[in-house]
Amino acid sequence: LAGLGQEKGEGASGHSSETSAVPMTILYGSESGNAEGCADEAANLAKNAGFKVSVCDMADYDRSNLPKEENVLVIVSTWGEGDPPEGAVDFHEYFMSDAAPRFKQTNFAVFALGDTSYAEFCECGKQFDRRFSELGATRILDRVDSDVDYEEPFSKWLGLAIPKFVDATGAGQAGKAPSVAVMDNSSIAKDVPVFGKKNPFQAPLKTFINLNGRGSAKETCHLEFSLEGSGLSYEPGDVVGVFPRNCPEVVEDFLKVTGLRADEQVEDAQQVLNEVLATRHDLTSLNALLLKKYAPIAKNKQLDAFLQPDKKEDVKEWLWGREIRDMFLEFPPEKKLDTAQILGLLRKMPPRLYSIASSLRAHPDEVHLTVGSVEYQAHDRHRKGVCSTYLNQRIKPGDTVSLYTHHNKNFFLPENGETPIIMIGPGTGIAPFRAFVEERDALGQKGKNWLFFGDQHFNTDFLYQLEWTNYLKKGVLDRLDVAFSRDTDHKIYVQHRMKEKARDIYAWMQEGAYFYVCGDANRMAKDVHQALIQIYAEEGGLALDAAEIAVKELQKSKRYQRDVY
Ligand code: 2AM
Repeated sequence: LAGLGQEKGEGASGHSSETSAVPMTILYGSESGNAEGCADEAANLAKNAGFKVSVCDMADYDRSNLPKEENVLVIVSTWGEGDPPEGAVDFHEYFMSDAAPRFKQTNFAVFALGDTSYAEFCECGKQFDRRFSELGATRILDRVDSDVDYEEPFSKWLGLAIPKFVDATGAGQAGKAPSVAVMDNSSIAKDVPVFGKKNPFQAPLKTFINLNGRGSAKETCHLEFSLEGSGLSYEPGDVVGVFPRNCPEVVEDFLKVTGLRADEQVEDAQQVLNEVLATRHDLTSLNALLLKKYAPIAKNKQLDAFLQPDKKEDVKEWLWGREIRDMFLEFPPEKKLDTAQILGLLRKMPPRLYSIASSLRAHPDEVHLTVGSVEYQAHDRHRKGVCSTYLNQRIKPGDTVSLYTHHNKNFFLPENGETPIIMIGPGTGIAPFRAFVEERDALGQKGKNWLFFGDQHFNTDFLYQLEWTNYLKKGVLDRLDVAFSRDTDHKIYVQHRMKEKARDIYAWMQEGAYFYVCGDANRMAKDVHQALIQIYAEEGGLALDAAEIAVKELQKSKRYQRDVY
């Protein structure tokens, strides 16, 4: 586990190349590591082009350097409803505020990562782009907003950005010819593992258990996959990316709505259309960008009227709970669209990330997931989450699933095995804590472990109950607090249990405990965050704003980590 928490470019300046006097800072904000990977790729190209490069995470950036920056590449993702990645929140807040300095001679360019299935697509990148310009910096290249399939757009953008910076600054004139250096993309392909996002492993499902009892409102499943022969590995806190298959009913309905034929041969894919739709494309996520892409080929007057600037709010409201099929039905094309036109509208099937529920040391050659099915009613139709219902309802032991492991640098056990940990993991948020406790047990680490778990009912929803009971007996788990929200006439949540145990939580924190939260980002993680602040205020005798600062410090020093979704 050594060094997992250390970020690249930590400290003021990050790592630098010595080749030229023209400096370039590559400032990134990354949640799952994609923007960070892009930043590394950008650094290699910029170095080859003759820049003196610093790569720096926004989380560690020394803001007093800002006015001195000459060239800045910003690579930042957007999380949830238009938010910056967790580590970038402070810098973002500062940069958008009146306290941000004005630039005199600074060039910049922004690459934004996002997910078109969220309303506030690439919002964080848009804000940085706007703000750099407002503060007087010169935009060297237009921003690009990329969907989850960011690799190609990024390489393209970078291939344009670096020569533009070279032109603007004269970097590399004394050294290598920049045009040659920019063409050199040897950095991209080296050291790639055999299996990964671009080449997922076909992992056989070995074991499958529905963790909920009969009568539960939930469907939460435990899945064990074999990684034998893959060379894939992971640490506690890491995630798995799964490429799902669309539900056959969704594919069938899509074919019906678009009037395409299931058995049509798709030449580039060398597969029939049915299979292409099942595996290669996102058939459901609908958003305003897709409506705009569809409008010129649909030539539907109502759609054109609907997309006028003054209708933005109506569009937003209409989109709620609707899927791509609804777009075709509500705004039929003037003439029937052909297969190429329709496939051209669809984005690639994005992988879904799940927090790993197992320790590799406890289960060699295996990876376990805890998956909650997403299902709901919208506009009189039953809708199903693509990946969760694929895993929980449509595969059986012996089937293989396309997956890869991915390192999460923001969620890791303390390096020191003696350090106490407090884990807040209601619902499927329990997953990484099963990995944590298994790991500490497998390594014989003596640090104290305290788990808070919550769900609806004790009888049907106590995930991994037997395992926790055994860990308690063995002394691996020191404390377990549970909050079942629907067994009593008033709701009891994990944060209520935290407040009941405020004194002990504070005492553990004073002993240097790490505090972890995993699960629902919208409500639970916010309430737990407030509860922690309150505990610091009341038990530590601090004013509320001082308690907030203390909790922020915990986050900065990585003693308070979140994996929320
Ligand atoms: P509920 O569904 O009864 O509201 C895991 O899903 C558990 O998290 C459930 O018991 C759920 O309760 C609970 N939960 C819902 N909102 C929460 C919140 N704001 N804080 C903590 N737990 C919450």
